[in-house]
Amino acid sequence: MPAEDVNGSLPKELFARVDEGDDANFYQVPRLVAHIDPGTIAALTQYYRDVLPEGGRVLDLMSSWISHLPSKARYTSVAGLGMNAEELAANPRLDARVVQDLNRNPRLPFADHAFDAVLIAVSVQYLTHPIEVFRDIARVLAPGGRLIVAMSHRCFPTKAVRAFHEFSVEDRIRLIGAYVELAGGFETATFDDRSPAGEDPLWIVTATTVKESS
Ligand SMILES: C[S@@+](CC[C@H](N)C(=O)[O-])C[C@H]1O[C@@H](n2cnc3c(N)ncnc32)[C@H](O)[C@@H]1O
Repeated sequence: MPAEDVNGSLPKELFARVDEGDDANFYQVPRLVAHIDPGTIAALTQYYRDVLPEGGRVLDLMSSWISHLPSKARYTSVAGLGMNAEELAANPRLDARVVQDLNRNPRLPFADHAFDAVLIAVSVQYLTHPIEVFRDIARVLAPGGRLIVAMSHRCFPTKAVRAFHEFSVEDRIRLIGAYVELAGGFETATFDDRSPAGEDPLWIVTATTVKESS
């Protein structure tokens, strides 16, 4: 766990969890299940189809066995980082797989500007040091690269940070905007509601990294 107060001006209590135990224990057993409804997965895949550049280099952070990427789209590479090696091994979209606990080590093991897009799908609520992680996402993204944070209303309750239990949906969305702003290196985040009718909601916050001035 990083020693300093990494979440800057955000109150520490927002990041408390019922289960403060080692994440490695919680994620030891693979969960080869869908965490959102089929229509919500389809809506997320459509969103990726709309905004991700074909041929781009993609990092799926907090990844598992499914990345929700459009099956026909071609990317130069898709790297996945998550907590469970078996889940990542079962993900057919990944060209590279890293097991790393971002709550213990928020530094991403990738070069500066290595990616055109970074995805966090239905997982941002598990980050206890989000500003450090988002800061490093800005580092590994190329200028103008895009971060896409997709959220819904389901979670592993004992591992989600308090803010995601206590905040309204609007405040959770604003909180992700605050992560982006406090991390630095991004343009202002924008929000898109892609919730399908009658299925799990899909709230997407996205931000692009600042383009270097020539
Ligand atoms: C609800 S699952 C979502 C998986 C996948 N992104 C999806 O859309 O189906 C939460 C994921 O967050 C990852 N995760 C949770 N805590 C993490 C941590 N401390 N560091 C890295 N990844 C973590 C787990 O590996 C798990 O796959």
